[in-house]
Amino acid sequence: MPDPKGLFISFEGIDGSGKSTQARRLADWLRAQDRDPVLTREPGGAPGAEEIRRLLVEGAPERWSPETEILLFTAARRDHLERTIRPALEAGRDVVTDRFADSTRVYQGATRGDLRALVDRIHADAIAVEPDLTLVLDMDPEVALDRGLARQSGEDRFEEFGLPFQQKLRAGFLALIDDHPDRCVLIDATSDPDTIAARITQAVAKRLP
Ligand code: TYD
Repeated sequence: MPDPKGLFISFEGIDGSGKSTQARRLADWLRAQDRDPVLTREPGGAPGAEEIRRLLVEGAPERWSPETEILLFTAARRDHLERTIRPALEAGRDVVTDRFADSTRVYQGATRGDLRALVDRIHADAIAVEPDLTLVLDMDPEVALDRGLARQSGEDRFEEFGLPFQQKLRAGFLALIDDHPDRCVLIDATSDPDTIAARITQAVAKRLP
């Protein structure tokens, strides 16, 4: 029998930190524990939210103002929550998402002017949900940036802000862990993928019934 309510897990970290690979591996591991996870991502994770994603990750770095970005990310998140996350959790399924609201707190709230208060107000009114567990993959931005741009995905709008931006992001994620020590776990993401995956499953196993 699955849990009455599934476990809601988010992955966070700077661009190129290996979240997507590790999110996939965690979903595989949960499946091996006889659970039924939904693997999803932000921005996106539902058809409408994926359309908004394209507006956000493609194009020139200065395409949107930080305020407009906050609204677009939140619109995508609301759709993701309504159509994918909430129905899955209520059906007793775990949700593993590659990014959630912490990305907006750090990317829009702390890096391009001090918009954190605006981010928090909009989140409180429009989303008001936090993951049960947030895995923050931490690594040197220089290494991560090399990996991110090497992918040439056409989705490099945020990577193109450059190294100082990624360094600010890293500091923002580390501050977030200090603010939410019960929910957030720091994962050293500089090791090999198997070691990182083992650290992650250890953190998740503690939260499983
Ligand atoms: P993502 O697909 O996770 O990119 P990557 O796999 O390269 O980490 O996210 C796309 C970009 O959107 C990424 O640069 C982070 C950014 N982003 C924000 O700025 N705010 C947000 O709220 C979210 C969810 C993502």
